[in-house]
Amino acid sequence: MTKEYLEMAVRIAKEAGQVLREEMERPPTIAYKGDFDLVTQADRRSEQVIVSRLEQHFPEHTIAAEEGTGKNTGSEYVWHVDPLDGTTNFAHKYPCFCVSMALARKNELLLGVIYNPIYQELFAAARGEGATFNGKKISCSKITALKNSLLCTGFPNHNRGSNPNFHYYWDFTLRSHGVRRDGSAALDLAYVAMGRFDSFWEFGLNPWDVAAGIVLVEEAGGKITDMQGKPYGLGGPSILASNELIHDEMVAVAAEVSGDAVPRL
Ligand code: IPD
Ligand code: CA
Ligand code: CA
Repeated sequence: MTKEYLEMAVRIAKEAGQVLREEMERPPTIAYKGDFDLVTQADRRSEQVIVSRLEQHFPEHTIAAEEGTGKNTGSEYVWHVDPLDGTTNFAHKYPCFCVSMALARKNELLLGVIYNPIYQELFAAARGEGATFNGKKISCSKITALKNSLLCTGFPNHNRGSNPNFHYYWDFTLRSHGVRRDGSAALDLAYVAMGRFDSFWEFGLNPWDVAAGIVLVEEAGGKITDMQGKPYGLGGPSILASNELIHDEMVAVAAEVSGDAVPRL
């Protein structure tokens, strides 16, 4: 059954991606949900397509969608939908944004689809079936040391002043080939799954930002925890994704930055 759900999710993500491509050609219609938290007509139109298609094909499923047009049916199946991840990029016509959709059953993530409609890059994964990029199997990178790695992080659009991430950004930048800030957490995770990045971390993300990317990373052989190396719960305060091989090193550096590290003698 998961295969059919995945095929449908791919079709819907591509249809929503077509809406984002059309909207890219128009002058952006920007509104603000918070001081720096943008929302555009594209977010709403994309969500409208996704929610209406999910309702049509899976009327009994719950839909948790970022712009609030989903519904709670009480079903054990829940779709986590980010209709446009990377809204700030979209609003500035920086072509790094995507549609992100995941399906969970009783809190277990079953599948994830992430689609960048501008580059037409499709990432898809189903639990136990591996992860693909435009139909070809992918796996995380084989980099074994932080000093040889390319990392990625993100900064939230809300409560920016109180986010601790600048300290982590500084430290990881000095210890790696560099830290990118691409502005789409879903794509950042997809890039870890296909080896473009060796690790990604961020604080304060929502379930719809990360649910699909988690399935991709895990199915590509990577690891997901929180920044302390503990199991990550969907929507938890921090997430750390990696190729698995540098995970312990990432956790150790994070502990040093946060001051939790056991002092070295
Ligand atoms: C944002 C992006 C960004 C991340 C923010 C998210 P949105 O999602 O994923 O990379 O740093 O924390 O809120 O608002 O573009 O869907
Ligand atoms: Ca998002
Ligand atoms: Ca969004």
